[in-house]
Amino acid sequence: MNEKQRLESKQVQQSTSSAKQEKDYSQYFQTVYMPPSLKDARRRGREEVKYHKDFEIPDEFLGMGQGRKFYIRTYGCQMNEHDTEVMAGIFMELGYEHTDSVEDADVILLNTCAIRENAENKVFGELGHLKPLKLEKPDLLIGVCGCMSQEESVVNRILEKHQFVDMIFGTHNIHRLPNILNEAYLSKEMVVEVWSKEGDIIENLPKVRMGKIKAWVNIMYGCDKFCTYCIVPYTRGKERSRRPEDIIQEVRHLAAQGYKEITLLGQNVNAYGKDFDDIEYGLGDLMDELRKIDIPRIRFTTSHPRDFDDRLIEVLAKKGNMMEHIHLPVQSGSSDILKIMGRVYNREQYLELVRKIKAAIPDVSLSTDIIVGFPNETDEQFEETLSLYKEVGFETAYTFIYSPREGTPAAKMKDNVSMEVKKERLQRLNKLVNELSAEAMKKYEGQIVEVLVEGESKTNPDVLAGYTRKNKLVNFKGPKSAIGKLVNVKITEAKTWTLDGVMVEEREAAEVN
Ligand code: SAH
Ligand code: SF4
Ligand code: F3S
Repeated sequence: MNEKQRLESKQVQQSTSSAKQEKDYSQYFQTVYMPPSLKDARRRGREEVKYHKDFEIPDEFLGMGQGRKFYIRTYGCQMNEHDTEVMAGIFMELGYEHTDSVEDADVILLNTCAIRENAENKVFGELGHLKPLKLEKPDLLIGVCGCMSQEESVVNRILEKHQFVDMIFGTHNIHRLPNILNEAYLSKEMVVEVWSKEGDIIENLPKVRMGKIKAWVNIMYGCDKFCTYCIVPYTRGKERSRRPEDIIQEVRHLAAQGYKEITLLGQNVNAYGKDFDDIEYGLGDLMDELRKIDIPRIRFTTSHPRDFDDRLIEVLAKKGNMMEHIHLPVQSGSSDILKIMGRVYNREQYLELVRKIKAAIPDVSLSTDIIVGFPNETDEQFEETLSLYKEVGFETAYTFIYSPREGTPAAKMKDNVSMEVKKERLQRLNKLVNELSAEAMKKYEGQIVEVLVEGESKTNPDVLAGYTRKNKLVNFKGPKSAIGKLVNVKITEAKTWTLDGVMVEEREAAEVN
């Protein structure tokens, strides 16, 4: 049977199945099918997390990629970007080559995001585009992985409507990529391997990092906060922290390789270490140790206000390679809405935290995430978000219209706010965000700032681009030899989101105490 017939036969099997009352998908799987289940995901055990430090690709799979190319498209947050780096590392160890073109690829992976409906729609749209390619090139393997794969409704929809997909796997088993690929080459059916329950922590996974100047380092996985609107605790499993020694070793290694900036990753980095039974150790302690490593910049994302403690503030105030920029998602300025969101802090507590941070780090730059149009949000409650935004004086924000996610408590709430009103609120909020950003940027005019030069500007190769300590993008004139270095730039003109300037002198890495 050739591949085209294989695809058609899948469709025939599909139509037989849809005639049944109760859908039974088991016929499609040759591997063990563990359907993703939000119910199972919600049951959080206290089982111990095991650490595997000896990951190796089984010999039998080495060479699998000889003469083959892989392409990965990434949607969603930095966590997903970093997972893509790990999958790329696995592909390379298997002997695959990387390609930037879908037409050229022998394996295409869509590393998906489930945070809002439009994120999911993009992926389904892309699957529609890939179908003709698959029909043209039957040997092509197409896989869907990432957060959407952890949702049962998505898996079912792919099984029903996108039969040409060869593999679906989730966020807990990316280390199983060699086995999944192998299965997909051998199998006539779609290979689905999604684990409802998070796995252990696997160290030493190979990685192909996208940059040579900035690197991401996971410090923890999962989220236990269960904000009522959010899908992440279901798609990423329970909170599990990597051991400090593994993180410190990875950062040291990156510093030795010449990386200049590290971003520590987690969905709620302030909960780092809370799952350790044997040691009392938190993000502040970790940062205090990383601070001593000879690397110019260390950032972290994302913070949850609830677990942001004094110890961390004290360490951040030591400056050096600790950046004076904190992304601190607030979501809403109304205590009532925050309560229904399950954020476990109110407006006053958030403002109090901001006061503490500003007292310790007077030049701190704060940014945030905000959701407008949460179910039944009133005009007054929305106004409270605007007033909080001004009161804190955020320099920038990511703003979103609430998107119901199936299986979350908020999705079951009745909602009396029309989409029109939600869109108006978003526009009003964005206007304020732009105004305050422009104001904050204006203050930089005439100042000299430290920029980590990343390369040529994306829009103009004659100009270099990089970020300040407070994460502002600066475009400036300077020699190409400055790429990869920290330089001083005098700001000549502020735009709403970026700064223009000229380089004034090269400088050594910031002093690390
Ligand atoms: N862990 C981070 C956020 C991760 S998701 C935190 O708690 O701060 C990134 C942002 O997406 C969130 O901060 C929130 O503003 C937004 N978001 C999450 N779920 C959403 C939903 N259902 N609808 C709209 N925006 C959402
Ligand atoms: Fe989602 Fe809340 Fe966890 Fe952030 S803290 S990932 S918003 S559940
Ligand atoms: Fe999206 Fe998953 Fe990140 S839902 S935002 S890719 S954790």
